[in-house]
Amino acid sequence: MPLQAHNTFGIASLAEHFIEIETREHLVQLPVLNAPKPWRVLGGGSNILLEETTSGTVLKNRITGIELIGESDEFVILKVGSGEIWHDLVMFTVGRGWGGLENLALIPGTVGAAPIQNIGAYGVEVKDTITEVEVWLWEENRLATISNEAAQFGYRDSIFKQQLRGKFFVVSVSFRLRKNAVLHTEYGAIEAELHTMGAVPSVANIAQAVMNIRRSKLPDPKIVGNAGSFFKNPSVQNSKFDALKKAYPAMPGYPSKLESSTKIPAAWLIEQCGWKGFRRGNVGVHDRQALVLVNYGEATGADIWQLSEDILQSVFDTYGVQLEREVQVWSN
Ligand code: EPU
Repeated sequence: MPLQAHNTFGIASLAEHFIEIETREHLVQLPVLNAPKPWRVLGGGSNILLEETTSGTVLKNRITGIELIGESDEFVILKVGSGEIWHDLVMFTVGRGWGGLENLALIPGTVGAAPIQNIGAYGVEVKDTITEVEVWLWEENRLATISNEAAQFGYRDSIFKQQLRGKFFVVSVSFRLRKNAVLHTEYGAIEAELHTMGAVPSVANIAQAVMNIRRSKLPDPKIVGNAGSFFKNPSVQNSKFDALKKAYPAMPGYPSKLESSTKIPAAWLIEQCGWKGFRRGNVGVHDRQALVLVNYGEATGADIWQLSEDILQSVFDTYGVQLEREVQVWSN
């Protein structure tokens, strides 16, 4: 089964086996079907880097449904099928005036992928609204519920990328949203965009501002293949940051959630190393956001990987800062 249309990088990869999962009953049948391993769950394909072939079985998630499972004066609780498109869920909640997901508008991918890397943008992370994640653990062939606390969410990180890596299929995600939203406009670009729009802060206006900003900076995968930020923003010890800042006074830094650390925008480091807008054959670095690698045509996963290696190396050689990839590599 060709996967080119199933990953936003647009990489041509052949899956040995491909099964669409529409219900949780399908999941439980997988061991009976003897689907070859490894099993790999495919949502929107917006955060993966593929090789020319993809071994084992690709499980395309098509579990849908948005259910209101709880309501009080202050909150609503939604249980959402993991195959729902993330942005559609955001628009569903924004349309009802429920607060919590508006800053996360237009993030590509599915609801099931959101908790895995704890998607985040414009001062909000999805962990702020998730109450629990329902998963099917395939080694044990049972459903389990992982609470927000048990999910060990961190910056682009969770238990699903650590101890549970490769062992689960997200079935549903539950969210607690506010009827009276607490709005987050502290991320500078949002305030500026609301001002340009002549709009007051509200759930709907913030979602619109975020969409405007994202559209102006990030390439549309339908036009040029990409997987959003390819790298994470690195955190370094404050002492190291102080030394860097002395040598490079223009270097931006933000307080990190890790102790005594500062987060440096990887895009700045990459841009300073001269990569922004760089192109080598079919691959390149986006000219409006240096964190985004792009496929201009028939790039292979190996071409993109090599470019990312070269970027990692040059940032390390120049600043002594080790970047990490955000994108998940599906190696055979
Ligand atoms: N910057 C540059 N050059 C660039 C772009 C940015 O120097 O080409 C510097 C500027 O100093 C800018 C700072 O980086 O002020 C931050 O830039 P931006 O607000 O665009 O955010 P980011 O750190 O580059 C992160 C997330 C994005 C998310 C935005 C907005 C990561 C890895 N990326 O990017 O998430 O949309 O913040 O909150 O944390 C994604 O994960 O796929 C993604 C797009």
